[in-house]
Amino acid sequence: MKFNEGYLDVGVKIYYKITEIENPRAKLLTLHGGPGASHDYLLPLADLTQYGIQVFFYDQPGCGRSDEMPIDLNQVTIDYVVEDVEKVREAFFGEEKIFLYGSSYGGFLALAYGVKYSSKLKGIVCSNGLASVPLTVKEMNRLIEQLPEDLKNVVKANDFNNPLYQKAVEEFYRRHLCRLNDYPPEVKLALEYAEKRNVYRILNGPNEFTITGVIRDWDITNDIHKIDVPTLIIVGEYDEVTPRVAAEIHKRIKKSKLIVFKGCSHLTMWEDRTNYNKIIADFVLETHRTNR
Ligand code: ALA
Repeated sequence: MKFNEGYLDVGVKIYYKITEIENPRAKLLTLHGGPGASHDYLLPLADLTQYGIQVFFYDQPGCGRSDEMPIDLNQVTIDYVVEDVEKVREAFFGEEKIFLYGSSYGGFLALAYGVKYSSKLKGIVCSNGLASVPLTVKEMNRLIEQLPEDLKNVVKANDFNNPLYQKAVEEFYRRHLCRLNDYPPEVKLALEYAEKRNVYRILNGPNEFTITGVIRDWDITNDIHKIDVPTLIIVGEYDEVTPRVAAEIHKRIKKSKLIVFKGCSHLTMWEDRTNYNKIIADFVLETHRTNR
């Protein structure tokens, strides 16, 4: 796979990586999660290029290789991050309508973008994503209840300095973040960026199941009915952002379709790479054909 990569100035300099393809049938802009990870863990989506879909990756402001966000991170709002996406979309595509993909928190971002700017999109893929942080947290707490007694207790006590706490994080991640025996290097890199830079800690919180940061109350459940483009919702059977979260999204978006990946968790793109890309390619190409 060949990529074009570089930096784009949208007020801040962001790093991007685009798959090379002649005469693409459709274009897909991707939004990574975290908030505060990097595009690297999304790279399996580059396989979509084989189906004629050009894939655009970038590190969001303050993430990965991109410049810092030019705002006090504690002041970040949903509208602010939606406008960040709009700047990038505009710079890459101008008037051209595209498909928008988001993973996890990136899925939230894609839905929030769709609420305001459906008219600029052909379709949305919300992968392992959410419309409500409070509901996601509630569901994660339900998953914590299923951990072995000793691990569950250190988590519930917020006993961060207990050596068992790290074991609890590892066990939760093994069940609900990525069920592969070894994390792929691209996943490790995205997690390292999340660790190294400020966005994850300040916007999300200390780990995947402790969302105490700026986004803790973000909830667009009552707005997503405004999305009027075809929307594909993907979730893993054991996902930390659970199938119940996905079902609540599906219920409210008229033109949506929900696919639950059996045996998978949050990083479905790694756990079932071929089928994952096939489902997305079918959705994108079919939507593109019927809405031309
Ligand atoms: N922290 C989760 C993600 O965006 C929700 O990956």
